[in-house]
Amino acid sequence: MNSQSRLAAFLKTRKARSVAVVDLQFGDTGKGGIVDRLAGWADVIARGTGGANAGHTIVLNGSSHAFHLVPCGILRDTEGKLNVIGSGVVLDPRILVEEISMLEREKHPYKGLRVSHRAHLVLPTHIALDRMRERRAAKGKIGTTGRGIGPCYEDYVARLGLTVNDLLNPSEFKRKLTRTISANSYLFESFDPEMVKEIMTSPALGGGKYYDPKTIFNTDAIVREYTKYAKKFERHIVDTDALVREALHDKKKILLEGAQGHLLSVDYGTYPYVTSSDCSIEGLAKGVGLQTSDVDVTIGVAKFPYMTRVGEGPFPTEFGGTQSAVWCSSARKDDEAKKYPNAGVNSKDEMEQGVGMRIAGHEYGATTGRPRRTGWFDLPLYRYALQTGVNAIALTKLDVLDECKVIKICTAYRYTGPDYKVGGLTLKKGSKITSALMDPVVLANITPIYKAFPGWLTSIGKARSKKELPQKLLTILDFLRKESGMPTDLLSVGPDREDILAI
Ligand code: IMP
Ligand code: MG
Repeated sequence: MNSQSRLAAFLKTRKARSVAVVDLQFGDTGKGGIVDRLAGWADVIARGTGGANAGHTIVLNGSSHAFHLVPCGILRDTEGKLNVIGSGVVLDPRILVEEISMLEREKHPYKGLRVSHRAHLVLPTHIALDRMRERRAAKGKIGTTGRGIGPCYEDYVARLGLTVNDLLNPSEFKRKLTRTISANSYLFESFDPEMVKEIMTSPALGGGKYYDPKTIFNTDAIVREYTKYAKKFERHIVDTDALVREALHDKKKILLEGAQGHLLSVDYGTYPYVTSSDCSIEGLAKGVGLQTSDVDVTIGVAKFPYMTRVGEGPFPTEFGGTQSAVWCSSARKDDEAKKYPNAGVNSKDEMEQGVGMRIAGHEYGATTGRPRRTGWFDLPLYRYALQTGVNAIALTKLDVLDECKVIKICTAYRYTGPDYKVGGLTLKKGSKITSALMDPVVLANITPIYKAFPGWLTSIGKARSKKELPQKLLTILDFLRKESGMPTDLLSVGPDREDILAI
């Protein structure tokens, strides 16, 4: 049985017609790989949240390309499937056009691409504001991807946003853009003009194309350039909410592709260290025009038995704690090999062990190239993330720790701070916490409690069924099931399409 039949059989036992794939951690759990493997089964693949802050690598004709907006299912366009960028996505037209051009260069079809007319637009104003704020905040920054995501969602809820549909009506586009720029001008005036100039003339903002030294933004240049971008994908713009709902009604198979992760959700994550969309199943369903009750199977994806985070914010099990967080916020991949030449997954020094896992798991951001912070799998965070409507589990990257001698799992936290009131409880020094509380004070004042297991010390990449897995790994998975109340359904044991099993 190949991976597609294995997955189809799994979905059949669940009588699934609509499936969602969401990330239960801080993003980068390899959900793109799960979506790619399920895309063979689906008729419609749809994204509903986030924007070009997401990133996945797709191999076309033997060379790999980073994609940020186009759904992972685009590889299956040849099979007549639809790939939808839903209304909940914030869309940067420049990046979409770059991705389309890349597909054209590689002669890969994208006939089935559909773009929501209601998706909000990421504009140069958003990218500029995102970067200016992060630069000014320095120490207190969020560590965003600099893609303008936060400011775009801000304009949306402030009722100042522009949508893809506005690109098709240039006079309306200009009117709304002028209004938005004028409403936000007070924000831009608060920044150091030298910094404004530097950011406005950087490559991320077209090298100065949209810069006007007097007014900061050249509205006409933006209108001109952005309506030109729209020409490139105009025939793909439709009401995708209606399209997805009709497909569901017509009993088509639907696959929803999550972005970022539950712990980065603006509603459920480690606020304020989050992205600006709701990355949970609720945000995802809504962002493609569905209700959560329309989704039969929601697969939560988690990296195991290590996990990662990019950007700032609490990460209780991080190898090397603050030292790692600081290093990862500025280092690049090549610095790492020089500074930690002996790092490996069994290094005695925690910081080095974390570097070793990063190297073994290729944990460098697809969008920013930043090293991802690494830590042990965290059950309190996992238990918390499972509270929202996940009814299947896929664990990924297990093969990365094939050679690791001791596997640790964080089972609970011990609170170490001063008395603190939260959600009707008073935490005292020494309190034990088993399901994470999304409060930055709590998450900054805990020490993890670990349980150690002997590693399986054998290569699992070729396993295709449960009976081919080492007993030591099955013992760990059984522990995970008992502690979280959720069995594992799928295991990804390597990067290739076939490296997945249903257990
Ligand atoms: P933003 O989404 O660019 O505003 O970034 C907010 C936070 O979310 C930062 O910590 C980013 O590192 C993180 N983030 C955003 N997108 C991703 C992603 O696709 N994978 C992992 N982290 C992400
Ligand atoms: Mg990614």
